[in-house]
Amino acid sequence: MKYGIFSDVHGNLEALEAVIAAYQGESIDRYLCVGDVVGYGADPCKCIEKIKSLIPVTVVAGNHDWASIDLFSVAYFNPQAAKAIEWTRRELDTAAEVFLRSLPLVHTEEVFTLVHGSLDSPHDFNYIIDGYNAEQTFIRMQTAVCFVGHSHVAGVFVKDATDRLSYLSEYPIEIKKGNHYLINVGSVGQPRDGNPRACYCVFDTDSRKLDIRRAAYNIRSARGKIIKAGLPRFLGDRLLAGQ
Ligand SMILES: [Fe+2]
Repeated sequence: MKYGIFSDVHGNLEALEAVIAAYQGESIDRYLCVGDVVGYGADPCKCIEKIKSLIPVTVVAGNHDWASIDLFSVAYFNPQAAKAIEWTRRELDTAAEVFLRSLPLVHTEEVFTLVHGSLDSPHDFNYIIDGYNAEQTFIRMQTAVCFVGHSHVAGVFVKDATDRLSYLSEYPIEIKKGNHYLINVGSVGQPRDGNPRACYCVFDTDSRKLDIRRAAYNIRSARGKIIKAGLPRFLGDRLLAGQ
């Protein structure tokens, strides 16, 4: 089984289309989206429709998804993000709202778990940025692999059979039996690791190989739409640098 896993599209249609085009050359069997489909970008409804058209796809809710349907307070957001949420709320049509309301916070199957932030208190959307944070999720994982997003920076925490923790950021990675993996798949629509190209993940359960890849997209078009929509200019400018 070949999974295409991605996160943090944030209403960036150009980036999403580039990632889907890259996936189409991969014979993906199933898509997994780890939240934040909307917020920041100028095409929230179109991104929802695109993701719904990926069959089969499983999606969990991110903090921006929840905030845009009033399930999470914008008091936790910086002023630009809060402005974008208010804009997104006005932009969502009924079908988009129904879709966002249908999303669970956590999705667990035999092979993997999906959660936007972390497994300790998923509705608080905590960040996993260090070993301590990672441990809070590892102790709650019922599966060998858990995919997360939220930080917009890809990276993999590994816990081996002796409970030794390590962090990997060079790919591809072999997913070894007996280890546990906490995998941040980075961001499609607003990367923050200094690489402006859209970030996405491919996981092949037959070869046990996990890869994080990048796709070039029309950043100027996505940025131009943000500015034209009256969203904070900074949200467009940051796409150019991937920060
Ligand atoms: Fe996000």
